[in-house]
Amino acid sequence: MGKKVFIVSSSPRKGGNSDLLADEFARGAREAGHSVRKINICDIKLSFCLGCLYCQSHNRCIQKDDMNELYSLIQHSNVLVFATPIYYYEMCGQLKTFLDRLYPLMPRENDFKTIYVLATASDESKDAMRTVVEGIKGWTDCYDANIAGALYGEATDIGDIKNTDAPRKAYLLGRSI
Ligand SMILES: Cc1cc2nc3c(=O)[nH]c(=O)nc-3n(C[C@H](O)[C@H](O)[C@H](O)COP(=O)(O)O)c2cc1C
Repeated sequence: MGKKVFIVSSSPRKGGNSDLLADEFARGAREAGHSVRKINICDIKLSFCLGCLYCQSHNRCIQKDDMNELYSLIQHSNVLVFATPIYYYEMCGQLKTFLDRLYPLMPRENDFKTIYVLATASDESKDAMRTVVEGIKGWTDCYDANIAGALYGEATDIGDIKNTDAPRKAYLLGRSI
């Protein structure tokens, strides 16, 4: 049976390198028969977590931005994919803010157990994504989920990733889930 896949693309550059990897992953996963939903963080209204813990007793966030309508969708997804540009050898702030805001899912039973990470940076070494994976592992450990795959793409200017084999790898990764 097809899985429910939820892709979070976090770059402020829509059509940028990590976003292209997210699209290729989505294409592969759809071709393999899964249902895929993708959001770009730059399209939604997203505020910082207030740390108020209101969510721990109400199962939703006290803030009125676009997050409350996403919780149920994410909770009932089987696979989550986080695509990020690497900023200072970490995930970008947009993705970190998004992960912080998933705290309402903390006390609940979630369907997602499998996580994929797609990251792009200028650095020629895949080592550039080490802290990104570690950072996301900090999040997955709290949700009893596992990082099943992490793909790195080397590119700097918007769209340059098309000149590498990373989009093909992202497509194949999406097909393989
Ligand atoms: C604020 C900022 C910080 C960055 N830090 C790094 C870095 O630490 N290492 C690196 O190799 N590239 C760094 N880059 C380059 C981006 O990671 C690279 O351009 C990437 O392909 C952008 O992905 P995107 O097109 O998905 O936004 C940085 C870019 C920005 C804007």
